[in-house]
Amino acid sequence: MNKKSSNHKIRFSRVIVLCGFCFLATTSVAQTARDGKKISSDLFGLFFEDINYAADGGLYAEMVQNRSFEYSPQDHGGWNSYSYWEYISPGFSYGRLSVETNDPIHLNNPHYMVFEVENVGNVRFTGIAGVGFKNPGFDGMVVKANDNYNFSMFVRHLNNESISFHISLQNPNGDILAESNISSTSNDWKKYKASLIPSESCDSASLVVLATTKGKFALDVVSLFPEKTFKNRPNGLRADLAQVLADMKPNFIRFPGGCLVHGDGLGNMYRWKNTIGPIEQRKGQRNIWNYHQTGGLGYFEYFQFCEDIGAIPVPVLPAAVSCQNSGGTWRVGGTGQKALPMEEMQEYIQEVLDLIEWANGPATSTWGAKRAAAGHPESFKLEYVGIGNEDKMTPEFQERFKIIYETVKTEHPEITMIGTVGPFHSGEDFEKGWELANDLNIPVIDEHYYTDPDWFIANQHRYDSYDRTKSKVYLGEYASWGNKLRNAIAEAYYMTGLERNGDIVQMASYAPLLAKKGFTQWTTDLIFFDNVSICLTPNYYVQLMFSANQGDYYFDNVISKNEKDTTLAASCVMDSKTNDIILKMVNFSDKPKIMKVNLSNFKNIVPEAKLTVLTGDADAENTFKNPNNIIPEKRDFKASRKFEYNTPVMSLTVIRIKSK
Ligand code: AHR
Repeated sequence: MNKKSSNHKIRFSRVIVLCGFCFLATTSVAQTARDGKKISSDLFGLFFEDINYAADGGLYAEMVQNRSFEYSPQDHGGWNSYSYWEYISPGFSYGRLSVETNDPIHLNNPHYMVFEVENVGNVRFTGIAGVGFKNPGFDGMVVKANDNYNFSMFVRHLNNESISFHISLQNPNGDILAESNISSTSNDWKKYKASLIPSESCDSASLVVLATTKGKFALDVVSLFPEKTFKNRPNGLRADLAQVLADMKPNFIRFPGGCLVHGDGLGNMYRWKNTIGPIEQRKGQRNIWNYHQTGGLGYFEYFQFCEDIGAIPVPVLPAAVSCQNSGGTWRVGGTGQKALPMEEMQEYIQEVLDLIEWANGPATSTWGAKRAAAGHPESFKLEYVGIGNEDKMTPEFQERFKIIYETVKTEHPEITMIGTVGPFHSGEDFEKGWELANDLNIPVIDEHYYTDPDWFIANQHRYDSYDRTKSKVYLGEYASWGNKLRNAIAEAYYMTGLERNGDIVQMASYAPLLAKKGFTQWTTDLIFFDNVSICLTPNYYVQLMFSANQGDYYFDNVISKNEKDTTLAASCVMDSKTNDIILKMVNFSDKPKIMKVNLSNFKNIVPEAKLTVLTGDADAENTFKNPNNIIPEKRDFKASRKFEYNTPVMSLTVIRIKSK
């Protein structure tokens, strides 16, 4: 166990108590960053998991649902290859539709649709005639007038020389918003593209694909993307959602989960190699959260997004065991923890090593070449690799973790490995996980806890007593149960403790990150969204205020408060790149309370400072109807060497002060 070490050193030797106000003091004057305690410069980042439709139907900008006809009843009760596709035959046309698997585009993508068009009717009756289908996307497609949408599909002729297609976007009345024609010419699978530019905006459009020639043909991977994805990346991300993540200026992003990583049974573990390369070659599979993951938002896209927003990529790979919790309400498979047979471990370890080569290896290496072929010849600068996600600490897990860990450590000493200590802040898996961490000397350990706000208040000093000679901590998943302001401020209170302990807490990320309205499996989340709008929670604003205001040196002796008052917490950091001093003050009570700030040890304070405050009623929250109920307010602030600040009720305040 890491906690309560006897050799823990208290950096500052004297506690000064003046008029009931206290802070820990040093004797230094003329403070610069170097006079503070060095803390992690990777402290606050993001945890991304494809839960709550976070990826398909969410951040991943693909607009067509079930684009490759791979949905199945195992993904979700009642689903199959036809799900979300409606057969249509306007103009008294007729034909047949079937799903087949012979000679697919790729073995990873076995199902495709076969159309037999027997009669194309008369356009005079309906304005359009043909046989085809309609896809409503994920609850209606949102299209904007005059924006460009990139359509593509794969076609293989089964008895024709050529087939004509009419592709359109239609509103719920069947009015055509955008249209284009494609003529296919190939007896082998071939990709065809069209551009669709709607004349009107619509929040509930559908994509319609109609064959207007008699004949038989196969169709697969029917896709539609807005051209305006985040940074205009092809196969990219929904721009507005990606932007609110970018706004947080996260130091890192952990992906792809969560329980999704170790999956519902061995066959459901997330295997990164299935998620790279052309989308038609990726292997979709059941999502442990009871839907389907296409793998369209795959490792390349995750790494690219990290690079685009200046975040360190933190991939987490299964430790060759599946999730012990599978088989719950949504998790239909339900195998519990299963371990890969030992004879398959060599191959599995190679998969982990191959990831490092894929991310960092030269473009001439086997796996580096695949990265280069995808358009990224330069290294992705992978530094961290996580192994396991809050797994049960069984002998099977431990045996497999050790082999993976030792091999990666030997082959890639430059990589910082992250281990795991179960799903709770304490208990058997936590204890055993830390024992393993201590035995193996694992550099960083991933702790997870979801609990009530009072726990976060009561445990703000949790890391003060962690042994600094042992593994560092990645608090990979945490949240207080709820999205009211009270929850967010409890988290802020706790986060001042993370900053204070930023010498042992290497990284921290709130979880889960994204949740689509009406499709949530986890009710407390950071960001809610639907197809049109985004509802940012008070918890989001707390994360944003910390994340966008990180420092790399911590100062103990700057902010003081009534020593007996446990509703107040504060931290002071300096960003050594800018010399900005950043004060964070938290009031977890229903009364305004004074905190005292003493900057007299800092050199050359610039009085013109910026203040951001998040405050309100403890029970207040943001909703889609009232998304701005609780939002931070920004204002100018006059800083002096010594000042008092009256912290508002239930609040987080960040004051950013320049120093020369
Ligand atoms: O964040 C939601 C879930 O909580 C994650 O998938 C899992 O790691 C944890 O139990």
